[in-house]
Amino acid sequence: VHVVLLGTAAGGGFPQWNCWCPSCATARSSPDIAKPRSQSSAAISADGIRWFLLNASPDVRDQLKWIGSRPSGTELRHVPIDGVLMTDAELDHSVGLLLLREAGRMPLITTAAVSGILDTDSRISTTTRAFSEVPWTMLPLDAEVELTQRDGRGSGLTVEAFAVPAGPPRFSPEAAHGHTVGFTIRQRSRNAVCAFVPGCGDLDATLLDRLRQAQLLLFDGTFWKDDELIALGIGTRTGRQMDHLPMSGTDGSLERLAALPCRHRVYTHINNTNPVLVESSPERRAVAAAGITVGEDGMRFEL
Ligand code: MLT
Ligand code: MN
Ligand code: ZN
Repeated sequence: VHVVLLGTAAGGGFPQWNCWCPSCATARSSPDIAKPRSQSSAAISADGIRWFLLNASPDVRDQLKWIGSRPSGTELRHVPIDGVLMTDAELDHSVGLLLLREAGRMPLITTAAVSGILDTDSRISTTTRAFSEVPWTMLPLDAEVELTQRDGRGSGLTVEAFAVPAGPPRFSPEAAHGHTVGFTIRQRSRNAVCAFVPGCGDLDATLLDRLRQAQLLLFDGTFWKDDELIALGIGTRTGRQMDHLPMSGTDGSLERLAALPCRHRVYTHINNTNPVLVESSPERRAVAAAGITVGEDGMRFEL
C-alpha cells in the first residue's frame, strides 16, 4: 500500500493565520527549520494510481498535488479519488468534501455516527449533495470492509474502523458512539497494515494491542504537553480535555509509542503550538531519540 501524508497540522494549519506563538513565529521567520504544514489528511492507494482520502481537509485542493495523478487518455476531467474515508466529522477533517463537489460523484465511507453529523449537524454532506452524488458506505465498528474502486472493482485494500477515546465535535454534543474512530488499512496481498489515528484522547492496553499490528502507525501529535494552550495563555482546556493525548509525560503518547514494534511511527495532526514543529527544539530531539517521526506534508511510505 502507498501512503502519502497530504497534511500534518491540526486545525488551523501551521503557521495558523492569527497565531504568533513561538512555533508559528519561527515558521514565519525561519521556515527552513519549522516547515509550514497544511491540515491533516492522508491518501492511500494499492497501485499508486487510484486513491482513497483519509479525511478531507480544508486544504485538499492544494494537497492533491502530492498524488499528482493525471488522465491516462485524452479525457478533460479526471478524478483520481475513489472515495473519502473520515475518522470523524470535525471541521478540519470534513470541510474538504464540499471542496470536492466538482467530482460529480464522490463516495463517502464513514461510520453511521459520522454520517449523521455530516448530514444533520454540519450539513457538509447534505450541501455537497446539491452539487455531486455522494453515495455513502457504512463502516461498522471492528469489522473489515473491502474498499471498492469507482469502476466497481475491488481496490485490494480493506478498512476496519475502531472507536477511540474522544468526545464528539462541539457542534454535535449528542453524537452517537462511533463519532470518532481510528482506521486499520490492510493490503492483504502484501501483508501490509497501516493504522491511522489522528485524534485520540487516551491509549489503553486494548488500543495499544491493535496498534502494534501496524507496520506504519500515524498517530495524534496535537500537543507536546497537556497544559500547552493554558501555559501560552491562549486556551482554557487541557489537551486531554480536548481529546488529544499529549506526547510528553509519564503516560503521554511518546513513551507508549516508543514501546511499540511498528516499523514507522509517525505523528500527524500536530497543533501549531507544538514545539516539536521546530526542528532545533529539545522536544523535537526527544521525539527523534525515541525513534518516532514528526510527520511532514508530502511524506510517502510504501508497505
Ligand atoms: C480537534 O482536533 O480537536 C478539532 O479539530 C478542533 C477544532 O475543530 O478546532
Ligand atoms: Mn482537529
Ligand atoms: Zn501558533
